[in-house]
Amino acid sequence: MKILGSGHYVPKTIVSNDDLSKIVDTNDEWISSRTGISTRHISDGEGVSDIASKAAILAMEDANINATDIDMILLATMTPDSMLPNNASIIQKNIGAINATCFDLNAACSGFLFALNTANAYLSSGMCKNILVIGAETLSKIVDWSDRSSCVLFGDGAGAMVVTVDDTKAYYSVSGSDGSKGHVLTGGATLLKNMLVNKDETNIMTDDYYMHMDGQEVFKFAVTKVPECISAVLDKASLGADDIDYYILHQANVRIISSVAKRLGVSPDKLPVNLNKYGNTSAASIPILFDELRKNGTLKDAKRVVFSGFGGGLTWGASLVEL
Ligand code: UT7
Repeated sequence: MKILGSGHYVPKTIVSNDDLSKIVDTNDEWISSRTGISTRHISDGEGVSDIASKAAILAMEDANINATDIDMILLATMTPDSMLPNNASIIQKNIGAINATCFDLNAACSGFLFALNTANAYLSSGMCKNILVIGAETLSKIVDWSDRSSCVLFGDGAGAMVVTVDDTKAYYSVSGSDGSKGHVLTGGATLLKNMLVNKDETNIMTDDYYMHMDGQEVFKFAVTKVPECISAVLDKASLGADDIDYYILHQANVRIISSVAKRLGVSPDKLPVNLNKYGNTSAASIPILFDELRKNGTLKDAKRVVFSGFGGGLTWGASLVEL
């Protein structure tokens, strides 16, 4: 599998740590020192399918490919605008990719990685030739804006890649899930409301509609699991940590990223960070960072990168891609 091109889009409105200190009991010093986040972009009306379509168009331009040559659109998101139609199909309509088969996939912050694995499987089987893989979120709609322990962490955004068949480029991946720990990161739950139950409820949103997180549990899980799955993917490829040019990690907390660098024994320069600008954009964070590095020339001479993500489910994974 080869990455032909990439693109990203974030909503215009920037919300600073100082802005948040006006709505919850927090401050710039706490947020910056505990997370590395300074600002995040928040949608003032655009939905996931809008921002994803914009990222997709930029990725197709970068890949120099026509929308009609895309035969699949995979959208990783946990904040779709609707369940029906699936949002990948809305993107298809927006960008004119009339020959694409379209579906959404949800694995929280690991979603983009799992979508990339899915794309690789479709390409390897010969079922598809050019796939648009997108990670996009409007997390601002499930964030509890009165909960200072979580609302300061997240942002909205979209990143996309066009991937194609290339037998000369290796792709290795490892991934996993642990449903028994699902309770540490929850959100988006709605009520079963039909003629048999909850007939009188006017609202289908439950207390679990908004995101709840046991931050310390997620932190402990991430600093153990991410280096573990990166080491496993390196073993699969028979490569050492230094053979990788860049580790493009899910952007959740700068302390998690530093800890992973230490555990892998590589320079922190190999683990670029942009969460200071965007916060945690869940499924969008890896493709947004990849696109920034590609467009600013950082990846010019790079031969191999490792993507690694972790999040709700719990889910995790690492993928090694040859550029
Ligand atoms: O994509 C995956 C999603 N999630 C993650 O990756 C999150 C992983 N976890 C983390 O990044 C960190 O655990 C957090 C950034 C969420 C929290 O950092 P922490 O160092 O684990 O802080 P804490 O939860 O232990 O809280 C320390 C203190 C508490 O006060 P007391 O009990 O010590 O008086 C909190 O109430 O900080 C307080 N606190 C805040 N203070 C100011 C929590 N949130 C805030 C806040 N502003 N926004």
